[in-house]
Amino acid sequence: MDATHQLAGSDVTIPAMGLGTWAWGDKSTWGMGGYDSELTMASIEEAWEASIDAGVTFFDTAEVYGNGESERIIGKLLANDVTRASKVTIASKFMPFPWKVEVKGALERSLRASLDRLGRESVELYQIHGPISFRSQAAQAEALARVVQAGLAKSVGVSNYSASETRDIAAQLERRGLKLASNQVEFSLLRRDPDSGGLLATCAELGVVVLAYSPLGQGRLTGKYNASNLPPGKRNFGRHPMEQIDKLVEELRRIGTKHGGKNPSQVALKWIIAKGVVPIPGAKNRRQADENAGALGWDLDEDDLKILDGAALLGPKSIQGRFWQHG
Ligand SMILES: NC(=O)c1ccc[n+]([C@@H]2O[C@H](COP(=O)([O-])OP(=O)(O)OC[C@H]3O[C@@H](n4cnc5c(N)ncnc54)[C@H](OP(=O)(O)O)[C@@H]3O)[C@@H](O)[C@H]2O)c1
Repeated sequence: MDATHQLAGSDVTIPAMGLGTWAWGDKSTWGMGGYDSELTMASIEEAWEASIDAGVTFFDTAEVYGNGESERIIGKLLANDVTRASKVTIASKFMPFPWKVEVKGALERSLRASLDRLGRESVELYQIHGPISFRSQAAQAEALARVVQAGLAKSVGVSNYSASETRDIAAQLERRGLKLASNQVEFSLLRRDPDSGGLLATCAELGVVVLAYSPLGQGRLTGKYNASNLPPGKRNFGRHPMEQIDKLVEELRRIGTKHGGKNPSQVALKWIIAKGVVPIPGAKNRRQADENAGALGWDLDEDDLKILDGAALLGPKSIQGRFWQHG
């Protein structure tokens, strides 16, 4: 039940579930300071407290989230709440825009700027945000090795990498005496492709932890949206006809009821945890953080897993085409 995961090449252990902080400080997709007037520093602080108190101590951010605002907010939380800060593991990301040709220097500069915003001397995990650099995997592995050697990152990972790209960068890191710790991909009941397409198996073989982003289909699997109440903002992940998603949510409700009143979000997250993957759902407030933490501490049975495997939607094979639509 709810196994923790060690990040390869380090002594860092992360819990079975983390928290994604893209929404913290982001205006255009998540509406802070815009369509969502309830997403405030106070609501974020409550989400932070509730998560850590429930054992969700792993936080994912990126230099591009809110143009650094997500990291700045985490920096404030870390500084103002020293007791909880001591329990926290932070992952951030380098966006390898193709114009960052001198990737070694660019990656180190980005990480130093992230650390500045976070008010930390190092992060536990530093990830390459996507396979979009014009530079070789060797050059990017070299850049990652440099920040580990400099003590700025305890472990390194990637995001949005296919199985073959994961193998390539893992081999390049290995040549430099490093391990690839993680690959962060879109994985949910609205995109089961990483499971059926073999990416999870490849990562398991390589000892790479898979982090599941948009695990709630950007809110679509929570049960609060439906065909006549679509999610606001430009949420590009987990997109399917809402009528199709409504049926899946009904199944989640049915299974949740069987397990003593678990809600659709909790069942959707538990399905991911049961696959040995670490979901990193976003939470904007205490209620969402508490609910999501309720995915921990219980199990789905074999029948539930079979039903959910059958009901899960394949989703896109690759997200390359829409990579530029988000941070
Ligand atoms: N590496 C990448 O390329 C990449 C891409 C995307 C995301 N990510 C990471 O993954 C994290 C999570 O993904 P995501 O934020 O896109 O999607 P998500 O976790 O599937 O959905 C998060 C949103 O769902 C709603 N929500 C969450 N919990 C809820 C609950 N219990 N009840 C009702 N509504 C709830 C909230 O929005 P509303 O209240 O507004 O509905 C929340 O912002 C991000 O924060 C980021 O760290 C990485």
